[in-house]
Amino acid sequence: MMGNLLVATEEARKMVNGAIHRNDRAEIGQFLTPATTARFMASLFENSVEHVRILDAGAGIGVLFAACVQAFCSRKPKPKSIEVVAIENDSNVLSHLNNTIQICREICQQAGVIFVGTVKEEDFVSFAIKHLHNFHVASNTEKIRFTHAILNPPYKKINSCSKTRKMLDSFGYGTSNLYTAFVWLAFKMLTPGGELVAITPRSFCNGPYFKNFRKDLLESTSLQNIHVFESRNKAFCEDSVLQENVIYRVVRKASKPETVIISSTEGIDYTDIKTMAVPYENVVLPDDPDNFIHLIQNEKDLLVMRRMKRFACKLEALELEVSTGRVVDFRAREFIRQDSGTGTVPLIYPCHLKNGFVEWPKPEGKKPNAILACDETANLLLPTGYYVLTKRFTAKEEHRRVVAAVFDTYRVKTKLVGFENHINYFHIKGKGLSADMAKGLALFLNSSIFDEYFRLFSGHTQVNATDLRKMRYPSPSELLRLGAHVKANIPEQDVIDDILAKELGSHE
Ligand SMILES: C[S@@+](CC[C@H](N)C(=O)[O-])C[C@H]1O[C@@H](n2cnc3c(N)ncnc32)[C@H](O)[C@@H]1O
Repeated sequence: MMGNLLVATEEARKMVNGAIHRNDRAEIGQFLTPATTARFMASLFENSVEHVRILDAGAGIGVLFAACVQAFCSRKPKPKSIEVVAIENDSNVLSHLNNTIQICREICQQAGVIFVGTVKEEDFVSFAIKHLHNFHVASNTEKIRFTHAILNPPYKKINSCSKTRKMLDSFGYGTSNLYTAFVWLAFKMLTPGGELVAITPRSFCNGPYFKNFRKDLLESTSLQNIHVFESRNKAFCEDSVLQENVIYRVVRKASKPETVIISSTEGIDYTDIKTMAVPYENVVLPDDPDNFIHLIQNEKDLLVMRRMKRFACKLEALELEVSTGRVVDFRAREFIRQDSGTGTVPLIYPCHLKNGFVEWPKPEGKKPNAILACDETANLLLPTGYYVLTKRFTAKEEHRRVVAAVFDTYRVKTKLVGFENHINYFHIKGKGLSADMAKGLALFLNSSIFDEYFRLFSGHTQVNATDLRKMRYPSPSELLRLGAHVKANIPEQDVIDDILAKELGSHE
């Protein structure tokens, strides 16, 4: 019977995936967890209690709680009772879900464990808020505390005007994606010492959008495990989900762990698990107000962290700022021109960044090259000078996440310039930097160490201005020394890394 449980859920998963079109499933964030991943997630729970209460929010066909029931019934000692509360709002999967509950009941019966299973066809956000805030509910809130929560929540943006978003905002869970809302509400529903295991995109680990969620997660719980997949799309390969996923376990308590167990596998058969105990202070830096979570997987990553600590300067200390290009092309359409002409100035897109400098114009390119300089565009344009530009998005196959180039006033002759919105630019109060400073900064941004460090906290191909603001940089005199090495082009990668090692000792 035990083995049958995950086989049955795997069959149901294939049935649902076959019956409901991928686009319709994507619409409601329905990517069902493969049985091997469910089993791995359930194996992470450590909390042994006599009376287990499991929450599965967005339960789908129930593979996650089924894996838990199977794991708990095989434990020594077994729990005396297991209660499952499965919440799912898609009526198409309810018959499968009820079937899984029934199989769990039979397994528990065989194991001599009391089983209570409840399926609630409800919106989880309303359910959780109603219970957490004892809203219209006469019953004691303690009744909805869980010893375990297991989740593969829906990944879906929450419209800022939606009822869901208003409800979340008014109770202090303001977040822009359903997945963080689900995890947030679920860990709030844990008993003290209760555990949550979730598989979600790793985008919550950095960036401004998830800051409040991340802060509360790290304050209210203790982060114990993180599992990462070494190559993209492995966790939901059949569904080719774009976001990279991570699995994590947190325990509801205020104290911080000394170490976080970070494990990784190539794929989802979990046979080749690599594990490392990483000091918590390297996962979440003690002086980081944004609580970025760094996914350190091996000794090399730890070395990168250590080397980056050698760079001490924040952007303010360098008197530099970084901003996102002001020209949003669809808003400024009437002023944008394919080629330069009377009254226009250069408009720089990411395609103009080449070999560490801005190469402009690109008359044969797909992107426009110019923008009209007039009263309406005056606040979109900057005075000429030396600026350092980075691409905000890089292609998956590009070998670097951070791609930087110098806008050199001697190469692009103009009085004013426009930077398009897919670019971030470093500047001094809206004006350019000195030539050597700009070149040194571009060299540093293009170094391997910068890229490797960046990847430790950013799982996606987007490079936000906030991410760049958080980084530490060499001192002004060091940047000037680096800049002196840059001649006609930014050098090749190995030469850049050698210059850094020689000038700044960044290999030590
Ligand atoms: C990513 S799937 C995962 C399903 C299941 N937990 C698993 O691991 O296979 C998320 C599930 O959440 C459900 N869901 C989406 N929005 C929901 C909501 N507001 N309340 C409850 N369930 C929801 C979807 O129908 C889908 O079955």
